[in-house]
Amino acid sequence: MYCVRKVTEDLYWVGANEHRLSLFENIHPIEKGVSYNAYLLLDEKSVLVDAVDWSACRQLMENLEYLLQGKELDYLVVNHMEPDHGASIQEILKTYPKVKIIGTVKTFMLMKQFGFHTEGHEEITVKEGDSYSFGKHNFTFAMAPMVHWPEVMVSFDQTNGVLFSADAFGTFGALDGKLFNDEMDFERELLEEARRYYTNIVGKYGPHVQALLKKAAKFPIKMIAPLHGPVWRNNLEWFIEKHDKWSRYEAEEKGVMIAYASMYGNTESAVQALAAKLLERGITNVKLYDVSNTHVSVLISESFRVSHIVLASVTYNMGIYPIMDNFLHDMKALNQQNRTFAIIENGSWASKSGDLMEAFIHEELKNMKILNERIGISSALLSDKATHLDAMADCIASSLNE
Ligand code: FEO
Repeated sequence: MYCVRKVTEDLYWVGANEHRLSLFENIHPIEKGVSYNAYLLLDEKSVLVDAVDWSACRQLMENLEYLLQGKELDYLVVNHMEPDHGASIQEILKTYPKVKIIGTVKTFMLMKQFGFHTEGHEEITVKEGDSYSFGKHNFTFAMAPMVHWPEVMVSFDQTNGVLFSADAFGTFGALDGKLFNDEMDFERELLEEARRYYTNIVGKYGPHVQALLKKAAKFPIKMIAPLHGPVWRNNLEWFIEKHDKWSRYEAEEKGVMIAYASMYGNTESAVQALAAKLLERGITNVKLYDVSNTHVSVLISESFRVSHIVLASVTYNMGIYPIMDNFLHDMKALNQQNRTFAIIENGSWASKSGDLMEAFIHEELKNMKILNERIGISSALLSDKATHLDAMADCIASSLNE
């Protein structure tokens, strides 16, 4: 059955929703699913803007068949070639033998790398600032390399103000009928998923996102049509501001995430007490995360949200607890910066995790601060050491007030 939504007078969403995939990119859990967005413009020429994952190909083809009503598809604009969008391109080329393809030099290079056969299809290579008319609608193309692959571009429809933004402004979470941001309570339902999507998928490429935001600011944008998640038709500034903060590695909120690795509950007991002491000092934006039970994509997302991060780890095989170590390495991989840390270590003998976490933060991460009040636990934090927690809570409180 076809499933389409009208975006503007002659523009349609022809994508699909995914609920059966459990891991996006085979790594990030997507409990709320994901959407693969593609858009069909019915101008004097018909234009498909991007495609979908292979799993959604049949749905896309049904949607196209329904809207084209036997007519040819004239153009395929490929803003992004990653297979969650590009995998169904070969099927489109087979079904519509006259379709012309618009992309960047690297788009066509990747098509060949993936083994696509484009013979017989005109390949139109565009570069920064090029324009193309499909009738009433004129597209201008802007290059967006590394947002989040090198071939990426975005397309701006000068006629209706729609920015086809590729992965930029995308969100995890299936749409399930609700196409527009104002058809849902986005902040309550999907902001966490948007943050988790951005930080884990595009987070490493903050400077490239900043470059794209500067280019996009020159377009009179009325709508943002990304490749995942809702189409934005109001409150654009609010969502752009989130991306501006994330891509500058600036915390959205003053707050504390306490990420802890506890084997038998003693480290957890200490951080529970620390959280209570922070609350007693009026700091309410505090969240605890057991790294063993929290996917690292959530830890990363939270580390982008807040200003302060407490790392509490047992010592394991003379090192940092492996799951905590993975979190630290993921922060490095995603270029995380500008946060304030507090360190708690535990060990029944030969405690090492504190020194190792501190060394990693100083040597491997950029522009991070570590508070002086470190706590060392020998097996369990006994009540006579409560003053250590008070000192750390005071230190965090004072840092938050800076
Ligand atoms: Fe949604 Fe980079 O692909």
